[in-house]
Amino acid sequence: MEKKNIDWGNIGFGYMTTDYRYVAHYKNGAWDEGQLTTDSTITLNECAGVFQYAQTCFEGLKAYTTEDGHIVTFRPDLNAERMQTSAARLEMPIVPKEMFLDAVEKVVKANEAWVPPYGSGATLYIRPYMYGSSSVIGVKPAEEYEFRVLVTPVGPYFKGGAKPIVIKVSDYDRAAPNGTGHVKAGLNYAMSLHAIVTAHAEGFAENLYLDAATRTKVEETGGANFIFITKEGGLVTPKSSSILPSITRRSICYVAEHYLGMKVEEREVFFDEVPNFAECGLCGTAAVISPVGEINDHGKRICFPSGMEDMGPITKKLYDTLTGIQMGRIEAPEGWIHTIA
Ligand code: PLP
Ligand code: COI
Repeated sequence: MEKKNIDWGNIGFGYMTTDYRYVAHYKNGAWDEGQLTTDSTITLNECAGVFQYAQTCFEGLKAYTTEDGHIVTFRPDLNAERMQTSAARLEMPIVPKEMFLDAVEKVVKANEAWVPPYGSGATLYIRPYMYGSSSVIGVKPAEEYEFRVLVTPVGPYFKGGAKPIVIKVSDYDRAAPNGTGHVKAGLNYAMSLHAIVTAHAEGFAENLYLDAATRTKVEETGGANFIFITKEGGLVTPKSSSILPSITRRSICYVAEHYLGMKVEEREVFFDEVPNFAECGLCGTAAVISPVGEINDHGKRICFPSGMEDMGPITKKLYDTLTGIQMGRIEAPEGWIHTIA
């Protein structure tokens, strides 16, 4: 398989139009067969549910080229399950797990030439998504839907890759108690756009969102969960019913405990205790593990002892173990790696 002529080591986290995508239609209470298409455009009625009331949800996972040359995905079954939770919360139809996995596999295989080579620093980002495609004008769910999967090669989410970033405490809320913060609804990201544009304009890479009810607890950023390393070398990660249950975070907790013998706590994290931690990182499919060197709280700087030059030593161990598993250098727990080619 001849790969596309791309400077893999220098691509950012952006969209490139690849050769194939998958589309399936839901009508009269059932999904059709679904198929690959070369057409990257979508034609919909002007009053489609997605346009009027933002009825859309999505997923994000990656395909990796392993050290021995296979193409694999990482725990795609958990993305399938999370998309079902998102769909149920948004009154959308459920995409059966087999259909989700089959669609991902078909699109990755068809775009094999776009899967970045092992060691290039890039990966193939996979974006499954679903939206209300039939017209609605009164506020109600659409009757028809499309489920699609597109792929695009990506590099690091944050410029500089593994360099520590500076983030700010946001004055905006990301998710309400009993709202949609725990699902991957497009609307969560639409309402974060002003906050991220503001943060970027002020020179920060991301926002730390506090819990909306009390503004005392750490929730997550716009696109990743938090991990903190204690001075004793344990891992602490915020527990909240209004953050996205990150698959990367769940995997890191397992790796920390079972591969590295670390103490792992998933609990409420008060913002007041953040200065006591030794290291801080953001974790997610796009973020992988991105080290945070500093959190700016309205001008007050919380600087982690790990500094602004390198990833903290324990964060690095977690990063190396997680990516080692994803790239086939370290044996994975049963069922984590799905081989596509
Ligand atoms: N939190 C938010 C808001 C996200 O958008 C993402 C990205 O998917 C994550 C966390 C990380 O989740 P995952 O590790 O499943 O990619
Ligand atoms: C992902 O990590 O897959 C996401 O959806 C986060 C987004 C910021 C790109």
